[in-house]
Parts: sequence; C-alpha cells; structure tokens
Amino acid sequence: MKTANRITQHPILGDIETVPYVTIYFDGEPIVARQGEMVAAALYSAGVRTFRYTPKRNEPRGVFCAIGRCTDCMMTVNGIPNTRTCITPVQAGMRIETQHGLGK
Ligand code: FES
Repeated sequence: MKTANRITQHPILGDIETVPYVTIYFDGEPIVARQGEMVAAALYSAGVRTFRYTPKRNEPRGVFCAIGRCTDCMMTVNGIPNTRTCITPVQAGMRIETQHGLGK
C-alpha cells in the first residue's frame, strides 16, 4: 500500500485539519487518502505523476493548473472517464484508473 507524504504543519496555515483517512485504489493498488481532499492531491502525495496519456501522441500528462481548467488531470474514476481529478473529492473505496486517450 502506498503511503502519503504530506505537510502536517504549515508556518502560516498552522496544523493540518484532522479528518478520517480512507483507502482508494489507483490502478488496483490501495492508497491512503484524506477523506474529502481532491483525488489529484491524494495521488500526488502518493507519488503518482502520470494521470493520463494523450489520444494522439500517447504523451503523459499530470496535474497542471489544479483548478479544473486544463483537463490534464483527467482520469477514469469509478468507471467514468474524463473526470477532472483536481476538483473531485476523495470518497472511501474510489477506483481511479490511468486514462488512455479519450477513455472508455
Ligand atoms: S490539473 Fe488542470 S483541470 Fe485538473
């Protein structure tokens, strides 16, 4: 199981808010995530950098804007392709898959 590297204390923002940790699955592998954080943040903290591959050139893409505008973070989430993971909150048991092309 991948564990996350996180900032738990920030000099300006203070301590990280206490929330439950849940398990989500990235390409079938369990990852520990904070309930309600964005899926992209959970994956990024677990070391995932490639979220999808482009349709034409099969080039890797990951988080770029992190505000839901660029679509570089699109993945298949719970069977739904083209989900922008930077604006999708974590829920326990989510199944997240690397997206190839336009997804299925
Ligand atoms: S990183 Fe740009 S939409 Fe998610």
